[in-house]
Amino acid sequence: MRVLIAGSGGREHALGWKLSQSNKVEALFFAPGNAGTANVGTNLNAGVSDFPKLKSLVLEHNIDLLLVGPEVPLVEGIHDFFAADSELKNVKIVGPKKLGAQLEGSKDFAKEFMLRNQIPTARFLTVTTEKLAEGIAFLDKLEAPYVLKADGLAAGKGVLIIQSRTEAEESLKEMLSGQFGEASRKVVIEEFLSGIEVSVFVITDGKSYKILPEAKDYKRIGEGDTGLNTGGMGAVSPVPFADAAFMEKVEKQIIQPTISGLQKENIEYCGFIFFGLINVKGNPMVIEYNARMGDPETEVVMLRIKSDFAELLEGAANGTLETKTLETDDRTAVTVMMVSGGYPGNYENGKEITGTEKVEGSIVFHAGTKLADGKVVSAGGRVLAVSSYGKNKDEALALSYKNAELIQFEKKYYRKDIGFDL
Ligand code: AMP
Ligand code: GLY
Repeated sequence: MRVLIAGSGGREHALGWKLSQSNKVEALFFAPGNAGTANVGTNLNAGVSDFPKLKSLVLEHNIDLLLVGPEVPLVEGIHDFFAADSELKNVKIVGPKKLGAQLEGSKDFAKEFMLRNQIPTARFLTVTTEKLAEGIAFLDKLEAPYVLKADGLAAGKGVLIIQSRTEAEESLKEMLSGQFGEASRKVVIEEFLSGIEVSVFVITDGKSYKILPEAKDYKRIGEGDTGLNTGGMGAVSPVPFADAAFMEKVEKQIIQPTISGLQKENIEYCGFIFFGLINVKGNPMVIEYNARMGDPETEVVMLRIKSDFAELLEGAANGTLETKTLETDDRTAVTVMMVSGGYPGNYENGKEITGTEKVEGSIVFHAGTKLADGKVVSAGGRVLAVSSYGKNKDEALALSYKNAELIQFEKKYYRKDIGFDL
């Protein structure tokens, strides 16, 4: 099988690392990839939203399967584009069509879906400018803090959690008048849920599903979960509180109704569903759906999958997932994200990265890197994900931290307390 992975982050490097171990994968490509993916496959020059370019590369390299990493091309309809093209009809796609990707692409769509399918989630009301008065009345029914979400994709920045009622009303008005462009012309106002979060993933062919190892990610830039939100500063798997009893609730109350809801509503779905969950006094509730794998969660989830990952992808794409097996590794996996100084605010790119050859015992996934004049340089806020196994999280983290010290680039930063709350 010849596989193309669309994307350029740590998630895509980790997916490629795992696929490169499969005997079934005879060639592996990335579009556009990064300096790390070039070590496990071949980088091709196309952006994830350039469908015509991706088509020509798929044909040129005889790709059998396209695995879509990030959400944007899914929400833009990359699967529909491939499915509608007779020259591409033999190419399998892992990633939902536009309609299924609305689970991530529209918060309102996701909330209505959960409501119809009795999936536990926070109370909400979706408003537009015309329904502003209703929105304000709904705010009065809620208690602080207030949760406001831009309906559409906003690069992870579209969720505001606001302490004061007056500020919430002001923010609601600002969002509706285009603070996040078209994405916030509709706003979902939500009840605030208090609890600890966990990311649960399934791979599905739309009928059958397999639950991948769960993970917890650390989104804030600062230690103790303080400061601004980032794409994710580290992750740990397994998550101790997601024990068998909790996961049984997740499966019965959330995963099964989601899959059967998709079937009932004739929403074809092949790919990953990422359930962003919160544990509210022992009961899982859905904070959000994503139509893809998480980043940096993938950098630990891939370490914990023992089975041939290409088999699972093939099962999802062919509708034969039921016949496949998923075996997991009992060890703990962690990842520590090394980021550019200043991130998630302004930061500089192009810093030379050295010392990765000294790393022992960890797997270094590249997130924002590129090759420039034969050197590996930073090319993004999140730069490298240093991932390790251990018999417990402390052992795994000690290894990642030891190796993160050996890697140098100007103004490097990483959180030293990943897993602190577990
Ligand atoms: P989302 O983009 O929907 O994942 O939201 C981003 C973050 O906001 C989540 O990871 C949560 O930490 C937080 N969040 C979102 N919705 C809620 C909610 N209803 N209650 C509490 N926290 C929330
Ligand atoms: N780590 C959270 C995400 O991928 O959205």
